[in-house]
Amino acid sequence: MPRQPIVARTLAELDRVTACYRTEVGRIALVTTMGALHAGHLALVRFAQTKARRVIVSIFVNPTQFAPHEDFGSYPRTFETDFAALRATGVDLVWAPKAEVMYPPGFATRVAPEGPAVVGLEDKFRPHFFGGVATVVAKLFTQVRPHMAIFGEKDYQQLKVVTRMAADLDLRLDVIGVPTVREPDGLALSSRNVYLSAEERARAPALHRVLRECAARIVEGKPLAAVTTDGAAELERTGFVVDYLAARHAETLAPIDSAADGPIRLLVAARLGKTRLIDNIGV
Ligand code: PAF
Repeated sequence: MPRQPIVARTLAELDRVTACYRTEVGRIALVTTMGALHAGHLALVRFAQTKARRVIVSIFVNPTQFAPHEDFGSYPRTFETDFAALRATGVDLVWAPKAEVMYPPGFATRVAPEGPAVVGLEDKFRPHFFGGVATVVAKLFTQVRPHMAIFGEKDYQQLKVVTRMAADLDLRLDVIGVPTVREPDGLALSSRNVYLSAEERARAPALHRVLRECAARIVEGKPLAAVTTDGAAELERTGFVVDYLAARHAETLAPIDSAADGPIRLLVAARLGKTRLIDNIGV
């Protein structure tokens, strides 16, 4: 039976434990989460355990990355079940600060990411998002001071934004991306999948299916613009409202005209009813 993880809720508690970890031989890994943990998060934890002696998981539903009309209030908060899953997985420390610890009265500083944060994908539809993510992740990295941080490729643009931010601010850690975990029917695991009705859940795997079909057509040599336009139309026929389906340079996320300008990442965001889903694959 794995040991009970330590729970730190204040910076003093966090510092006390991480100071001990830093006297040990071996590396410290951080997995940042907003809770509502699923098998995708636990895959990040298990990956971290293969790379580091100590694994710290942060749980914080970050208000600054939600717009007023988004789901901050209703975002699933499931600390007890999250903690049980982290305990079973053998995590060392859970960093679960309250909002007033992360954003005390008078808080007045934000990180404003550029580069992959302003390429017209998630940033176009959620303009507040990456500023909030970069700010909270910069704080989490500074608080925990891990040797590495593990992020899912499911939020591919976020992975690129955080990687750039950590390098640009000299935060001296490795940001490592881990492949997306999927349901057997291809749907990427997401804390927001719980919002889908049974009927929407049955349609949702089309997102991954269409991405795979688009990738196959690109490999066959079809023009990128035609492939993504057809893919978006197919998703609309399946009942999605598409925000974007784009073929981008896999590293910079810059728009590209042809497969020769790659490597290519296909990225999609689309709504089924009230639920917004994102996904991506390499070509
Ligand atoms: O991917 C998430 O869960 C969040 O955006 C993150 C990185 C934990 C920042 O709040």
